[in-house]
This record gives sequence, C-alpha cells and structure tokens, in this order.
Amino acid sequence: MKFLQISPFKHLLTHSRFLLTLRSEQGKYHSLILFRLSPASENTWDNAPSSSPGGRIENRQIYVMESTCPHLGADMSHAEIEEFEDTTVAVCPWHRYDFDLRTGKSETGLRACTYSVEVKNDPEDDEEKVYIETPSGGNNWRLIELRPVSEEFADPPPLPSQPAAHVNPVVVGSEVMDPVVPEIDPPKTLMHWAVLILNTANPTLKVMRTRHAVQLFRTGKLDSIGHKSSSAPSPPDVPPREESFLRNTVNPGKVKGRKSLAVMLHALANVEQWAIDLAWDIMARFGPSHPDLPPAFFSDFTKMALDESKHFSLLTSRLSATSPTTPYGTMPVHASLWESATITSHSLRSRLAIIHLVHEARGLDVNPGTIERFRRAGDAASVAAMEIIHADEVTHVTSGHRWFTWLCEKEGMLDPVETFREEVRKGWRGNVKGPFNIGDREKAGLTPAFYEHLTGEMAEEEMVQKKGTLKLETGLKDLSLADPVKPQVTVEYEDKL
Ligand code: FES
Repeated sequence: MKFLQISPFKHLLTHSRFLLTLRSEQGKYHSLILFRLSPASENTWDNAPSSSPGGRIENRQIYVMESTCPHLGADMSHAEIEEFEDTTVAVCPWHRYDFDLRTGKSETGLRACTYSVEVKNDPEDDEEKVYIETPSGGNNWRLIELRPVSEEFADPPPLPSQPAAHVNPVVVGSEVMDPVVPEIDPPKTLMHWAVLILNTANPTLKVMRTRHAVQLFRTGKLDSIGHKSSSAPSPPDVPPREESFLRNTVNPGKVKGRKSLAVMLHALANVEQWAIDLAWDIMARFGPSHPDLPPAFFSDFTKMALDESKHFSLLTSRLSATSPTTPYGTMPVHASLWESATITSHSLRSRLAIIHLVHEARGLDVNPGTIERFRRAGDAASVAAMEIIHADEVTHVTSGHRWFTWLCEKEGMLDPVETFREEVRKGWRGNVKGPFNIGDREKAGLTPAFYEHLTGEMAEEEMVQKKGTLKLETGLKDLSLADPVKPQVTVEYEDKL
C-alpha cells in the first residue's frame, strides 16, 4: 500500500472537513473528503496521543473517502456523521444511505471507497504529518488541492448561522431587491437555479442566490440536478445587466491603463461578475446536451460559482473601502469574457478549452503582477484578497483540465494535449500569450505542451459571425425611455501605483 503525505496534522485543526484533489502522473483525478472527528481542543500537546512502533500516532480520528456517493454521485462534503455503537457512518445528504467511515460499507450493499490514514511523527522537524493511502490505477499521485469544506465546518464552531432561506424582499443599503427565493414558482432543480441566477441582473442578488443554491445542492435539498430532464430550462444568450452597468459598458479597447487601485478593483470585480455567470452557464447550457455528465461535474462548477461570488464580494468591499465615491457599476466595464462564451456556446469541449484553459489560465499568469502592484501601493487587504482569489483560480483551471480530459476520454480516447491545441486553433484568434506562470499552470494540469507556441487561427470574419450581435439587456423592467441613457464615467484617478 502506498501513502502520500498530505499535510502537517496541525493544519487540519482549523476545520473538521477538507476536500482533497489528487492527480496521477497519467492525468487521472480523484476527489476525496477528509473528516477529522476529534475536536481541535483534544489535539493539543497537553493531550498528546500515544505512539505505536514505527512512529504511528493513534486516536487522531481522521477518515478519508471518495467525495462522491457511490449511489448516485452526491457530494459527500455535507454528509452527516452519526455514531452507532462501534461504528461511525457518513450519511449521504441525497438519499440518506450511510457508509461506514472505516470500511465504506453500507447496509444497502453499496460500498464507498475509503482510504487508510496514518499520522506519524516526522523526526526531521518533530511534527506530526498526515499520510493517506493513494488510489489504485495510477502512479505518482500528487495532492493538487486541500481546502476546508466551508466555514460551517470550522472548528471551533461558527456563530449560529443566518436563516437559510430569504423569502422576503432583501434590503441592502437603500436598495430593495427581489427575494433570494422567488415567491412564485421557486426553482426545484439545480438547472432551474442556474437559469434564474443567469437571469438575475443585480450583482448582489446574484451572489446571494448563488450562495443559497449551492447550499441547497450540497445539503440535498433540491429535487435533482435536472440536466437529464426534457424540460430543463434554457439559459439566456447573454445574462442581463443593470442600467448603471449598461451605461458604462464600452469597447474592451477603451478600458485600459489600470491607473488607480479603485480602477483595478472595479475591473477585477467586473471579471468576477462575468465569471459567476460563466460557471452557471456551463452547467445550464451543456448539462442537458450531455446527460452523461456525472454529479461531480456539477459539484466542481457549483464550487466555482461560489468561489467567483466570494471573489466578487471581496473585490467590491475593497473597492468601497478604497474609493467610496466610485462604487461598483460607476466605472467603464466591458463584456469581452462573454464574447468568448458566445463563440464557444456550441461545444462543451470548446468552452472548457477557451474559457477555462485559455482565459482562466491567463489569470494565473497575470495575478502575481497584480498582487505585486497592490503590495507596492501598501494595500495589504487587497493583497490578501487577491491571494485568496489566485489560490482559488488554480483550482478552477484544475477543474477545466479535469473535465476537458474526461471529455476527451469519453469522446474516443482523444489525446488531451492535441485536442486542446486543435480547439484553440479553431476557437481563438492570435497567440496564446505569455509570459506563463509555469508553476501554477502545471499545478492545474497544464504542462507547457498544452500552450507553448500556440496560435489561434480563427478568422476575424468568423469570429464576428459567431459573436453575432452580442446584446446586453437591462435587468430593469421599467427603464424609462424618457430617461436617456448617458455615459456616467466619473473616475477619480489616484495614481498611487
Ligand atoms: S444516497 Fe447518495 S446519492 Fe443517493
């Protein structure tokens, strides 16, 4: 049995649940969930556990299993843990089958895949380290991601949470918004939530609905994902935007020179708002045409939607703190990310390649420079926000790589590198630009063979034709024609950078 070191034990004391992503040398992925059952307070040096020969430390009560349920693939990150006499089980949130955390056995006859865990003292630094058994069917497994499940599983427990469902109109400042859960015909499936969120113009409400929908999905409170249904709803061609956003939408070439912290934060928040839509759009647009997509696909992209919502909130709060006179929506923005979404709306392979492995991977290249600019300006809070964003973005490119390779295998064992390069040649115009962040790209699965010396050959006329007339529509139902739409660009440049 081979073991892989995943973390110093003390790093697992912040939360009781962690998601792990492993990738083999052959490019296979496994998503695992780690449960730490002993309270952090029992894991201090005063309470040191006994060691067995070989330095193994007993009693840490750590269990690892596949993060998807073997029944129909629910995400087990929000499973309930229950103890019976001499066994402890994880209860799946969807149909409540329970699985023994040690053996994976369930009374239903199904069996979840569990992995042995060892905690050993490392004589080099005298620290306890956690090791897990590696999956079979691959070599040289690497840990790609280890992240706490959420604040709900932080240890010590967080304060009592807010009521989960907001059924009344929400008031934010002076703004009155629709309720998070519509009173008429509330969504019952993940596909219905995805389309509702895509059609939500107000960014604050978009974020709140994303949080709510992902929580419902993870805790088994939706009827289904809904992508196999013949009545799955269709996503909009272009997600609507609010009046202020439309007023300030300009040609991408006109949004240049990020001259101040506020301009940078505003531009980054705009990208994140589109990124929330892109995560929901890939599920709503391609789910129904690919009924064989497993629940793990939806787990990855709901996580992405949630991350992008967090990024949007982090950046807009930094914007308010940095420049209270220029809140989100008052500066020039562009919709170029949605142009690529439109160009790739005919093919999941093309969408994964262009949006997640070209655009998002480019983010990995440029983020360190952006972080450095905030650092030079002395804005430590924005540096911290951008570091969180960057770490999340590595995992988003990983998801792009994971599902791109999954699709290549499904579609006849295609070679992922060659297929990716072909998609870029067809669906991109111009060079795939460096300099590249080789280290973080590699972490996400993108070796240089994917992207080096690669040029998109899409002809301009074809690009224009595929984009069609990209038309942003207002989300305001009663936008008065008597109130002429004027540009409202009142940016004060601070030139701190
Ligand atoms: S019991 Fe887990 S998906 Fe059905």
